[in-house]
Amino acid sequence: MDNKLLTSLVLFSSILLTLFTSSYAQNCSSHQFRSNNVFATCNSLPVLNSFLHWTYHPDNHTVDLAYRHGGVTDSAWVAWALNPGSSGMVGAQCLVAFSNSSGQIHAYTSPISSYSTGLMEAPLSFRVPRISAEFINSEMIIFATLELPSGRTNFNQVWQNGQVSGQALQVHQRTGDNMRSVGTVDFVSGQTSGATGGGISASSRQRRRNVHGVLNAVSWGVLMPMGAIFARYLKVFKSANPAWFYLHAACQTSAYAVGVAGWGTGLKLGSDSAGIKYTTHRNIGITLFCLGTLQVFALLLRPKPDHKYRVYWNIYHHVTGYTVIILSIINVFEGFDALNGQKNWKRAYIGVIICLGAIAVLLEAITWLIVIKRKKTSVSDKYPHGNEINGYASRSHEQTA
Ligand SMILES: *[C@@H]1O[C@H](CO)[C@@H](O)[C@H](O)[C@H]1NC(C)=O
Ligand SMILES: *[C@@H]1O[C@H](CO)[C@@H](O)[C@H](O)[C@H]1NC(C)=O
Ligand SMILES: *[C@@H]1O[C@H](CO)[C@@H](O)[C@H](O)[C@H]1NC(C)=O
Repeated sequence: MDNKLLTSLVLFSSILLTLFTSSYAQNCSSHQFRSNNVFATCNSLPVLNSFLHWTYHPDNHTVDLAYRHGGVTDSAWVAWALNPGSSGMVGAQCLVAFSNSSGQIHAYTSPISSYSTGLMEAPLSFRVPRISAEFINSEMIIFATLELPSGRTNFNQVWQNGQVSGQALQVHQRTGDNMRSVGTVDFVSGQTSGATGGGISASSRQRRRNVHGVLNAVSWGVLMPMGAIFARYLKVFKSANPAWFYLHAACQTSAYAVGVAGWGTGLKLGSDSAGIKYTTHRNIGITLFCLGTLQVFALLLRPKPDHKYRVYWNIYHHVTGYTVIILSIINVFEGFDALNGQKNWKRAYIGVIICLGAIAVLLEAITWLIVIKRKKTSVSDKYPHGNEINGYASRSHEQTA
């Protein structure tokens, strides 16, 4: 192989790795919560001194959030709401907090069904397993966990403040910023907006996720196992030497090149959607990138076929290679889970994997037949290239001897 090309590939990947580590350093931690809560992302809402911090858990479709509303006194009420079925105030599923007559901050839920609401305490249309609030430095903070309505992460949101007189929450102002405090929030992309309609960003994000999925499924998930099949089953044919090597190397390096591109799109997705964490998928992705890069280095540092360390190199190369393939397939499935809803892609990939598996089993059987037959017809055949391949043919040769 062209060593210069490989060296530049390796360099390119190291640059990506650096970009990756820096883009994961988020700045959402600039606000220190007194309770030391840490959220994956935060957004400042366009009006009313308000901030939304949250961590979205794709596994159980819940979101842990903190809503901060600054510049208020302890005789204020604040509220933040999702409006799953509509926009604006009617239909809003509110989290409310105020300082009650016993001087404690009381936090509760209140669904709004009409404009003449007194923000009465009642359950919301989705479950809120946890809610609490505190008042510090002219800032009211509501902490809550929401079990989001299924099948969506993008909602209209609305937030508000008003005065409390006695135990009664007074109507909020009907002018200025109090009439502009509506927008959307997407707990997955991390986007909030002041105006309704985050549809465009959501669809472009979906497109990028699809590109990420296709690049990685094809490179790590299909080309890599194919390259391994070339190496393992072609080298038994003497006439395929050294063609199998070039096929294998070409297949794996192009898989690696496309894979690094796919990996890069994953990093971009990860850094653009700070609010979600696909921890397993991400960690396997990083591991794969490191192991894949190691394999490329291994190709550059490969000892000569008759070198005494070549046998160790071979063991190392095979172990890393099979680990990469197994992890790749696992991670492609992790990716499908993250994309939940794209059942057809998953089915198509399962089909491809079954196909590759069947081909491998068939070739395994054929290879054994060939080796045994060869052994019978020519007992003295020493497989002159056996050292170079040190793989199937030589191993089977030993085993059948
Ligand atoms: C990041 O946080 C620091 C405070 O820790 C703040 O001063 C700075 O403006 C923030 N940067 C951005 C880009 O928000
Ligand atoms: C949701 O899952 C996360 C971990 O993924 C866990 O920390 C959290 O407690 C779960 N929340 C609920 C309400 O089950
Ligand atoms: C005030 O709020 C606290 C905390 O929610 C609650 O325990 C307490 O009963 C409330 N007091 C009154 C008088 O409602």
